[in-house]
Amino acid sequence: MKPVVLCGDCSSLLDGVVFEQQAVDLTFLDPPFNQDKRYNEWNDNLPQGEYWGWMRDICAKIYDRTSDGGAIYFMQREKNAEFVLRCLRESGWTFQNLIVWKKKTSAVPGMRRFGKHYQIIAFATKGKRPRVFHRLRINPPLPPGYKYERENGVFVTDVWDDIRELTSGYFAGDEALRDPSGNRSHKQQSPIQLLLRIILSSTNPGDLVLDAFAGTGTTLVVAEQLNRASIGIEIDKINIELIEKRIAEKRKADCILSLFKDYECTPNLKAIWGTDGPDNKFISSYGHSDKQMTLNL
Ligand SMILES: C[S@@+](CC[C@H](N)C(=O)[O-])C[C@H]1O[C@@H](n2cnc3c(N)ncnc32)[C@H](O)[C@@H]1O
Repeated sequence: MKPVVLCGDCSSLLDGVVFEQQAVDLTFLDPPFNQDKRYNEWNDNLPQGEYWGWMRDICAKIYDRTSDGGAIYFMQREKNAEFVLRCLRESGWTFQNLIVWKKKTSAVPGMRRFGKHYQIIAFATKGKRPRVFHRLRINPPLPPGYKYERENGVFVTDVWDDIRELTSGYFAGDEALRDPSGNRSHKQQSPIQLLLRIILSSTNPGDLVLDAFAGTGTTLVVAEQLNRASIGIEIDKINIELIEKRIAEKRKADCILSLFKDYECTPNLKAIWGTDGPDNKFISSYGHSDKQMTLNL
């Protein structure tokens, strides 16, 4: 299912007709964090009240566009947890989990408080009962001293410490989009592993996934491989070019094929995955492209 990419301000575009055709089943919300970062089209230094009012309006619009029981995953800095939860509550969402994403990177040191080592992702639904929630199982390495191998993995909990953030250095690897000089094209690109977990947990094949701040289009690239429909909204035209090229080129680094085994302890995984699992020809077409995407910016 080819993703739909919309260029413009998500707040206005959420009023558009495209959302009248099918209700949204899952939204990933990874907005600018309002910490005075350099964005081409966006002031990332709004007064606090204005920023959170804007976020609340967007959450309310998404709520109206969402199917009963549909889900939202709102990612933010841990220090803003209080505002995120309030914003979701005031726009009608029902809180389910506060996910701690411990990003496998070094902590940001603090002189007068503990170093900061995680980001939060608030998971909420429209109504009390999620429309879809697949209890995924993973099999992380056993902690030292454990005597027995697990028979069948463990359920994913609300602490996600097995997904690495794409940092500027070595660990960003091939997955990070880069310009011809090797610099990262977008510093906030989310890892495909993160979106894979979110989409697998909260949707079925054929559902509609929304990313209102699409950035480099990570959500769309994963949704397409999982046979979910998707809409991405992005305000910056340079990022729109990145997204369109990323969808068209099918880079090997975006292929989710090798991640199937991470969830192989999950009952019924092939049906949740939605594309006959790793045998699917469409996903394999990602795996067979060796091109590393570059864009002349
Ligand atoms: C934190 S980044 C998202 C990164 C994304 N998760 C990814 O994997 O690439 C936030 C994005 O929101 C975009 N943005 C800022 N204001 C926007 C608005 N009003 N409507 C739509 N997109 C906006 C920015 O240009 C930026 O690319």
